[in-house]
Amino acid sequence: METAKIEEVIGDFINLKRRGVNLIGLCPFHGEKTPSFTVSPTKNIYKCFGCGKGGNAAQFIMEHEQYTFPEALRYLAQKYGIELAEQEISQEARESFQLQDSLFIINQFAAHFFENQLINTEKGKHIGLSYFQERGFREHTIKKFNLGFAPEQYDALTKVAQQNGYNIDLLRKLGLTTNNDRDFFRDRVMFTIHNLSGKPIAFAGRTLQKDKKVPKYINSPETEIYVKNKVLYGIHLAKQAIRKADECILVEGYTDVISLHQAGIENVVASSGTSLTIGQIQLIKRYTPNIKILYDGDSAGINAALRGLDLILEQDMNVKVVLLPPSEDPDSYVQKVGSTGFENYIDQQAKDFIFFKTNLLIAASANDPIKKTLLIQDIVGSIAKISDPIKRSLYVRECADLMNVKEILLIEEVNKLLQRQFKKEGIERQKPEEIDRPIANLRVVKTEDEPQTEGEVTGQDTFQEQDIVRILMTLGHHVFDVSENMSVAEFVLGNLETVLDSFEHPLYRTIVTSAYEHLVAHQFLSTSFYLEHANPEIRKLAIHFATPPYEYSQGWEKRDVYLQTQEMPEQNFTADSVQALKRFTLKKLIRRCEENHRKIQHASNEPEQLMTLLKVQQKLLEVRNNLAKELKTVVFS
Ligand code: CTP
Ligand code: MN
Repeated sequence: METAKIEEVIGDFINLKRRGVNLIGLCPFHGEKTPSFTVSPTKNIYKCFGCGKGGNAAQFIMEHEQYTFPEALRYLAQKYGIELAEQEISQEARESFQLQDSLFIINQFAAHFFENQLINTEKGKHIGLSYFQERGFREHTIKKFNLGFAPEQYDALTKVAQQNGYNIDLLRKLGLTTNNDRDFFRDRVMFTIHNLSGKPIAFAGRTLQKDKKVPKYINSPETEIYVKNKVLYGIHLAKQAIRKADECILVEGYTDVISLHQAGIENVVASSGTSLTIGQIQLIKRYTPNIKILYDGDSAGINAALRGLDLILEQDMNVKVVLLPPSEDPDSYVQKVGSTGFENYIDQQAKDFIFFKTNLLIAASANDPIKKTLLIQDIVGSIAKISDPIKRSLYVRECADLMNVKEILLIEEVNKLLQRQFKKEGIERQKPEEIDRPIANLRVVKTEDEPQTEGEVTGQDTFQEQDIVRILMTLGHHVFDVSENMSVAEFVLGNLETVLDSFEHPLYRTIVTSAYEHLVAHQFLSTSFYLEHANPEIRKLAIHFATPPYEYSQGWEKRDVYLQTQEMPEQNFTADSVQALKRFTLKKLIRRCEENHRKIQHASNEPEQLMTLLKVQQKLLEVRNNLAKELKTVVFS
């Protein structure tokens, strides 16, 4: 018997690239930016090294399309004219499929029961159906969403289910029957919750009582077939429309989905009252990268909800937010203004999530500098989640404008966060099971080569002096301290101003002096200051430093810097400039100690001068040793 070619089956859903004997792609079951989803044509299996999911073609189809085992087999047979050998599935796996099948079947029975109660019983019609009709739900819609009614009687469902031979343990497992064999859902209108392929996986029952003590909705418990954080209400009816519109509208409630759907807006799903989870986002992402979130006009926890939205950005989704008019929810509003009115409203009101958040927080932090700092951090956090650098820089510019802060400040803050992220990912990427994957990291090695400049005087302190120049040229324009609004150049030169002429190397002395004068004249110091400098030697050096790969030439200190990308050294600028400055200072201190020592030797017959020199020496040694300790450097004297 022929078996399904796994790369072909999976290739229908995922972009696969060859990597040796295997194929790799981005895992559809968890969010990732670097592929760890591997397909092995020789073994006929797939395996994700990120989330651990794996199996054969049928298991992939079951997982991806949320099919049962027989459905997956049928799919493969129809699509490829091939059959999967039964024995390819382990006994254990088969048993779990059978359990899932039983759960679906019982839920299907229950769904029919609730529907039947709604349409065909006096109580159901009188209480349930009339309620739905009052809410404006038409018969077709009620059928389409499998809405129902659970009677008040304490064991109506449990009794007929058992009469029909359904296992009481499974009824309990599904939460349809309580431990003392009563119906769990009673005297409520019923919403059936479906999986991606339209099978009933759970129920929600809404009370019709006004009593605040009665919970408005009660829900089925989690089971093998109902994993709450991966479920979106209405997805089975919305998926095609989402793909077609290339956008998913996200609402909070069941009734919102139903009303919009009835009005012809079908690309709608609900997160069902909870804040959005990664699993839900990934489900949407299979169909579109664009999400439009509708919030009730008076939604209380909107700030909290917004924080959760960073999750969506992390998944490379484009997020827009719409605030509905006060005291309206999507359900009430579409019933009020109709589908055209509704669509116009959300088109006009949709705001890019980051700008929406920025404006919201600006309003909240007006005239409060502490809040404003938090606001900046918050927005920067959101922007850093966006992986597309072009998009990121666009947001940075606009948000800097909106918040009335310097763009460079935001850039720096974003870079700091990115650096942290890179570091974290770098560590994760080296997990043992991923050992066969090429590590994208780039190791920067120490090079002894100095840039050759004409007329060079190689003094003893050249290494440290050059490092200061490198920092100024490549990192000078970065923000060193946000609260002080100080650039790296300001920090470095500010600490060097008294020792500018102790630079031995003439070119380096020229550069720092020139930069210092430029800065004192309140000019902004960027890389282009050096690149466009009148002095060709300075230009040459600037080009040397601006050209990757970055070469460090500390000469006296081994550096083990693991870099994620070639942009990384720049992002390490704070520590880098502090270190460079310390090394430079230490070198100069050592030099002064030596000089002072020489003076001491020559001053032996002038006791007063000797005394002063010895005191100076003591102080110098103290400072030198402290600094050396900070730098973990051994000083030989
Ligand atoms: N929800 C829930 N349990 C509750 C309240 C709410 O699970 N006790 C979830 C439901 O998924 C509900 C959604 O949160 O659909 C939104 O809540 P709400 O706006 O209160 O309900 P609506 O669906 O708008 O219901 P209705 O219009 O009938 O008030
Ligand atoms: Mn509502």
